Amino acid sequence: MSITDKLKSYNETINAYLYDILSKQDDDYPVITDSMAYSVKNGGKRIRPFLTLVFSEFGGLGRFDKGALSFASALELVHTYSLIHDDLPCMDNDDLRRGKPTNHKVYGDAMATLAGDGLLTLAFEVIADADASDRAKVKAVKALSELAGYKGMVGGQVMDLIGEERKLDEREFIKMNALKTGALLRCTARLGLAAAECEDAGKCADADKYCADIGRAFQIRDDILDVIADQSEFGKPVGSDEKNGKTTVLSYMPLDDAQKLAEKLTASAIEAVKKYGGKSDDLIELAEYLLNRRT
Ligand code: IPE
Ligand code: IPE
Ligand code: MG
Ligand code: MG
Ligand code: MG
Repeated sequence: MSITDKLKSYNETINAYLYDILSKQDDDYPVITDSMAYSVKNGGKRIRPFLTLVFSEFGGLGRFDKGALSFASALELVHTYSLIHDDLPCMDNDDLRRGKPTNHKVYGDAMATLAGDGLLTLAFEVIADADASDRAKVKAVKALSELAGYKGMVGGQVMDLIGEERKLDEREFIKMNALKTGALLRCTARLGLAAAECEDAGKCADADKYCADIGRAFQIRDDILDVIADQSEFGKPVGSDEKNGKTTVLSYMPLDDAQKLAEKLTASAIEAVKKYGGKSDDLIELAEYLLNRRT
């Protein structure tokens, strides 16, 4: 099965989980649950929950373990919250996300802010309710709170805003991408391996290295697509970074060199896991697919 077919088939199960989580409406004020569901149900590639499941298998679990599915869903809720807030007028001020009007365009800035807050906190409820051991759940809470918070994704978004005021130096730029994008990708391995109760330090370190490298490559490709993508395929505005005067990879090098850097990072990610033979096939194929994605 090709990696795109596999992604599609896993996404059916992931979406069923997410839709079930979001099926409980607030009877008095359905606008908040509608707003939360609007952004989650708007599609998205579901790379993070897919990787969480792949890492749970890499750690020794069977396909579609229930605990791993809950952890994977929690991460997608946090990712979706990060996108809703990222699009707000006070952040990137974008009107299109996943091919649809952004949350604040439909529900207004205040409700979009609250929908993000609602998704972030719901993620931790989903972990608490997961069919997993207490030890696995505590590990998941630790990973998600650390990597999504000010030392992780939020911290990267702070650096991204500073990068509008001045060009970051190269060390800062690498750190910004490692945090704003790399952190939630590293979370996939932490959550998948926590669900599998994998204590193999070498395996955990190799998985983390893979995630950190594809995280950097992923944001480089995103910055490239912000210039060259077809908007209807990309599902978000082309030219957003230029509009906002962002520091992106293209602030340091031309497009071709940026793609070569993404290739180098992808090769390094693959190198970290290829010794696992058949067990790392999905990781390798996904890294290669992400490098040339159009969406
Ligand atoms: C977008 O992430 C935000 C970045 C980190 C560049 P994705 O490209 O995974 O977005 P969706 O989930 O597929 O919409
Ligand atoms: C933001 O990066 C990544 C997040 C933490 C949400 P971008 O601002 O480039 O993401 P897009 O291009 O809007 O998806
Ligand atoms: Mg942004
Ligand atoms: Mg943005
Ligand atoms: Mg972008």
